[in-house]
Amino acid sequence: MLGGHLLHGGDYNPEQWLDCPEILEEDIRLMKEAGVNCVTLGVFSWAVLEPEEGVYDFDWLERIIENLGKEGIQVILATPSGAMPHWLTQKYPEVMQVQADGRRNLPGKRHNFCYTSPVMREKITALDRALSKRFGRKENVILWHLSNELAGNFGDGACHCELCQSAFREWLKERYGTLEELNRAWWGRFWSHVYTDWEQIHSPAPHGEYTMTALTVDWRRFVTEQISGFCTMERRAVAEYSDLPATTNFMDTFKNLDYNRLQKELDIISWDNYPFWHREKDEVPVAAWSAANHSMMRSFQKKPFLLMESAPSVINWRNNNPLKRPGMHMLSCMQALAHGADSVQYFQWRKGRGSYEKFHGAVLDHKNGSDTRTFRDVSEVGARLPGLSSLLDGTVNRPKAAILFDWENWWAVEDTTGPRLDFCYPDWVMEHYRAFWEQGIEADFVDMNADLSGYRLVSAPLNYMYRAGWAEKVRDFVSGGGIFVTTCFSGEVDDTDLCFTGHHPLEDVLGIAPEEIDAPSEEFENSFTYSGKDYPAHTLCAVVRAKEGTELLASYEKDFYAGCPAVTKHAYGSGEAYFLAAASGIAFLRAFYKDVFAEAGLENALGAELPYGVTVTERMGKERVVFVMNFRNEPVCVDGIGTWTDAETGEACADRLQLAAFQCRVLTKQAD
Ligand code: GLA
Ligand code: ZN
Repeated sequence: MLGGHLLHGGDYNPEQWLDCPEILEEDIRLMKEAGVNCVTLGVFSWAVLEPEEGVYDFDWLERIIENLGKEGIQVILATPSGAMPHWLTQKYPEVMQVQADGRRNLPGKRHNFCYTSPVMREKITALDRALSKRFGRKENVILWHLSNELAGNFGDGACHCELCQSAFREWLKERYGTLEELNRAWWGRFWSHVYTDWEQIHSPAPHGEYTMTALTVDWRRFVTEQISGFCTMERRAVAEYSDLPATTNFMDTFKNLDYNRLQKELDIISWDNYPFWHREKDEVPVAAWSAANHSMMRSFQKKPFLLMESAPSVINWRNNNPLKRPGMHMLSCMQALAHGADSVQYFQWRKGRGSYEKFHGAVLDHKNGSDTRTFRDVSEVGARLPGLSSLLDGTVNRPKAAILFDWENWWAVEDTTGPRLDFCYPDWVMEHYRAFWEQGIEADFVDMNADLSGYRLVSAPLNYMYRAGWAEKVRDFVSGGGIFVTTCFSGEVDDTDLCFTGHHPLEDVLGIAPEEIDAPSEEFENSFTYSGKDYPAHTLCAVVRAKEGTELLASYEKDFYAGCPAVTKHAYGSGEAYFLAAASGIAFLRAFYKDVFAEAGLENALGAELPYGVTVTERMGKERVVFVMNFRNEPVCVDGIGTWTDAETGEACADRLQLAAFQCRVLTKQAD
């Protein structure tokens, strides 16, 4: 466990308060009071660390790190590339990003830099090295935090300047070798888009080329490579005088970067979680969304991750920023641990007095010091975590189910035209995850490069693109006894968005032959009966033929394709494949997956039927540690749970478990 215990703390910006020594003293005193043991320094401190080109001022930072150290508070030290100082942008305008429309950004804001610019690369490398030399071996510094939310804040997160355009062309040369091959892979003769010179290739632009999905997907692949390269460069710079591990903070289902690629550059995954609690009275959709993102972070490296940022109270960047209802702060923190986090870190420790985030919640508000509800909520978490540290040390979630979440598939399915224009890939995937979550079945998220062995069930909703090797991998998985679920509009195109011809690449495994696909308007909603209940079919309804030996679990009931398969099951080798021909909704997915879980021999950690709004996860080590979370704002009981011990109170729990509103209980028993 990084730091030797669960981390509790967050982003700390003392550079905003350097002229108020009494504030800096109070900070440390109150951190102790709130049970804070780790803070992140330096995320946006470039202007203070290097006030003039080549002139470094690190003394203030050293004093702060040492004062924290005296009180046993650990430090995550960031490199400051997340925001550039004005002297830099004034002297070297090339460091500022150019947007897709060709306009260069003006100075200001943040995440505004070109990832290719040699000047930017040189300046930040020099600064990172100097930071490494000065702080890389300090006793209480435990982790490097590279930059901040890479590719965040502007457009597609990329820079479209001339330097980036030529880097893109070089990347394409490397990938395709010849223009002939590129034109073939991109189907260039369509609309006469044949390239005869590499210089003719330009990044996707609103006033230029955005209609060629092969190009737009390749551009996104390139951007991921370019930014991963930038990240590796920073990582090497801080490694110059330091052996500390490195991370960068990810965001939720973030389209601009393929995190499965970027994660390879990092020692530990961390992310920033800002769920929209109390968006509606039913917290389940948001709870499942937040759970899914935690699980995705864990899945990247199949080990514990860090919750790097979360709001101690409200945020300031939505139109509705509801206060967390009593109990929700603790529950939200526990949810992170439940899915594999080894920390609860906040943005931010103290509210600044001015500029963009002065109304963003913080542990310390502008007024009333520690005498606030938020401070008490945070202190409660600070008091609870130490008791869980040794219990969770060395444990990790090990799901037997996986859900495909593949960035290249995401980019392709949303960029392509037809059979709909409004695909939201994460929504499709998360709806499936929600059916898992409601039944307490944890899932890993995997991409098409993943090793599927070890899973009993793999679900691949809206799996439009089959990257090279994927069909073979799924075939092996199913023939070896795995259970595979997929949906309509899957297996359509290869890596460069060229449609497969002849037949569906997994026709033999799925036992169906797709013929047509209906994207009906609301008035033409169809329906089917599954296990005696009626469900809608809408949005996308594939019309497929079942092959001999394929079981029909449901058929359409209306329109000219009434009687055609809506849900099928097909045995292949020692496994089974399910095909969902139509989009339906959570009610159907809940019923469907209940049966699939039974078939796959998957049950939740309590082996119990869970009331709506309650879920469970398990972290395995020497002991089984089970988190039971109630996302309802009212008490509930879970029956039929077997025998457990409440890890925190020592109370024996047999058969029935009571949970208060928004409560999380941690149960344990010896692993078999
Ligand atoms: C992001 C950033 C932080 C801060 C928060 C506010 O996660 O990394 O610097 O702006 O959002 O919610
Ligand atoms: Zn650029």
